[in-house]
Amino acid sequence: MATLHAHGGTLINRFRPDTPYKHIQKEIELDATALSDLELIAIGAYSPLTGFLNQADYQSVVDRIRLSDGTVWSLPITLPVTHETAQSLSTGEDVRLVCDGETYGILQVGDIYFPDKHIEAEKVYKTSDIEHPGVNKLLERPTVYVGGDITLVKRPEKKSFKNYHLDPNETRKKFSSLGWKTVVGFQTRNPVHRAHEYIQKTALETVDGLFLNPLVGETKSDDIPADVRMESYHVLLKNYYPSDRVFLAVFPAAMRYAGPREAIFHALVRKNYGCTHFIVGRDHAGVGSYYGTYEAQEIFSQFTADEIGITTLFFEHSFYCTKCETMASSKTCPHSSEHHVILSGTKVRELLRNGELPPSTFSRKEVVEVLINGLRRHEENQLKGDTNEHTAQYRLAR
Ligand code: ADX
Repeated sequence: MATLHAHGGTLINRFRPDTPYKHIQKEIELDATALSDLELIAIGAYSPLTGFLNQADYQSVVDRIRLSDGTVWSLPITLPVTHETAQSLSTGEDVRLVCDGETYGILQVGDIYFPDKHIEAEKVYKTSDIEHPGVNKLLERPTVYVGGDITLVKRPEKKSFKNYHLDPNETRKKFSSLGWKTVVGFQTRNPVHRAHEYIQKTALETVDGLFLNPLVGETKSDDIPADVRMESYHVLLKNYYPSDRVFLAVFPAAMRYAGPREAIFHALVRKNYGCTHFIVGRDHAGVGSYYGTYEAQEIFSQFTADEIGITTLFFEHSFYCTKCETMASSKTCPHSSEHHVILSGTKVRELLRNGELPPSTFSRKEVVEVLINGLRRHEENQLKGDTNEHTAQYRLAR
């Protein structure tokens, strides 16, 4: 297999566990998103980034979806700090990056700058509505950004899915050892329902392997918890996929719900993990009705194929058609919508919560069973006073 270049040319590696840091006095406390970003930068998933964005790159990413050197980059990966912390920092000095008392990294302070979060929200999320979960998170985080190169000195502990955390250099080796010359990446924050399965398998008809790469970082409170989703992927793969054509590993990033901008980000990151192709279906990384159904596909036309460097596979909204008796989309099915099985995420969650089974034309029965049991288990844990944040949030979101 010809070496597939990372985005920007080089797969970044900034994990240096032997770097001394105990002498560094100053520290910046990381939230969960910043901690996962730190690790993802260091292992090369965000290549060509070598740190949190400095002001010039930030401005350029927000304004024109490119780093200041012109490389396509769509999401501002930033390190927000409080005013108080910002005032204590000086350009050029090293600062420890800590979380819950542990040092994970070192930041060489580049810029300290005040973003206009309203503009960031409007340009990146296309809305400044506080109800948008990505915008809400953006505004909730502190107000000053610190840019600069990072070094990761300690890997965050993998509390869940230990065997499914692979770095880009590891997934690249894996694909190569499987003999896959073409690999399609699939991003998801949901269980894999029949429509997802359909577009994955349609892609698999033309490429060598499928990289199922569910996002397991922070998601909004009413998304299905990652542990339940992982169980659902296992039963699905075991029962319905050829084991030698699929590889499952997690993507530990936070979900931004930035629709079109996030679709580009998701594609570039999967290129770094070694994929040659990437699936973008309907309303990719969208939420509510903030984005048009195919906006996340259309945005790619602003760039040349070389600039993106991974082949995008676009899919129409797919569904089961009771007349065709198969999965289809408006491209392949002539029947009207009354024959199409289409359930909204909200509707599915409602059914699952009530212990009702969505039809097998929507989701495989094995998947549905896992979801019902998993959500029930989360609720019981919640009643027992489980402090797991996601469980608590899931309950509250009902
Ligand atoms: S996402 O936020 O991670 O994009 P989701 O897990 O729902 O959400 O979707 C994963 C991928 O499947 C995305 O590319 C999305 O566009 C696509 N997708 C989801 N449902 C459908 C559908 N019914 N038809 C076509 N594509 C779909």
